[in-house]
Amino acid sequence: MSDAKQPGLIDPPENSAPGQQEEEERVFPAPAPLESHGPARVIAMCNQKGGVGKTTTTINLGAALAEYGRRVLIVDFDPQGAASAGLGVNAHELDKTVYDMLVAARPDVRPIIHSTSVEGLDLVPANIDLSAAEVQLVGEVAREQALARVLRPVLDDYDAVIIDCQPSLGLLTVNALTAAHGVIIPLETEFFALRGVALLVETVDRVRDRINPRLQIDGILATMVDPRTLHSREVLERLAEAFGDKLFDTQIRRTIKFPDASVAAEPITSYASGHPGAEAYRRLAREVIARGNVA
Ligand SMILES: Nc1ncnc2c1ncn2[C@@H]1O[C@H](COP(=O)(O)OP(=O)(O)OP(=O)(O)O)[C@@H](O)[C@H]1O
Ligand SMILES: [Mg+2]
Repeated sequence: MSDAKQPGLIDPPENSAPGQQEEEERVFPAPAPLESHGPARVIAMCNQKGGVGKTTTTINLGAALAEYGRRVLIVDFDPQGAASAGLGVNAHELDKTVYDMLVAARPDVRPIIHSTSVEGLDLVPANIDLSAAEVQLVGEVAREQALARVLRPVLDDYDAVIIDCQPSLGLLTVNALTAAHGVIIPLETEFFALRGVALLVETVDRVRDRINPRLQIDGILATMVDPRTLHSREVLERLAEAFGDKLFDTQIRRTIKFPDASVAAEPITSYASGHPGAEAYRRLAREVIARGNVA
């Protein structure tokens, strides 16, 4: 690609494989534009382990899908509000967020949807208020269905809804799994990555059996890959053994550009459009579409 010779001061090896992108393009061709939009497929971005790339993947997969003409709604479902901040929305100053929708008798989500700097990419923001929802919902009827009920009226407006879950398997995450058609599990490519995944898969199975029979695991995404290290390559081999074709072919390499982009409150696809990290998320978007996870 054009930036193959870009001076990568911090992560040079990433820029050292100029032939690779062309090969990748052949595997997942650019998707055809859509003639019409919706109903959305809902994807929960889940892993109860913190810092594995859930928010980064939500924002950048969302932005990349939007670049391919898909209409995408990101639902920030973490009281930390990282997805909101990463898309330039200062959720801590907002009066109404996803929390108010969850606890409302007759939620109307449209007025709290924010557009972002990326065309076709919208956001339902969250802030610290959401931390009260878990406790408040416990006594409610159909407490697992609160988010699904909030999102239902806008599904026809979008092709994909991506829910950025908090690092826990509590009631909020169960709400996300209940609202979802598919789950993407980002895994940091390090030795203990698989710890806890069994429990997550068990939770997905339980939600499927009891509440949401359509729920499936769309894929496992290896993040923060460092192809220079034997360790990273060994972990990738183990992930391939454990998950077979559920493991996305696309891998996300470790690069300082991701934290840089979140400081700039932009997806990497616009902050550093030609960077291999941006290309990786575009490739993931093409793979997700090629697999039929998004139209
Ligand atoms: N591929 C990557 N290379 C380098 N840094 C990354 C990469 N992906 C994410 N990061 C950085 O790692 C940190 C954690 O990423 P992120 O916030 O996406 O994880 P998370 O799973 O959403 O975390 P949490 O569980 O706290 O919500 C952030 O600072 C982010 O910028
Ligand atoms: Mg996060």
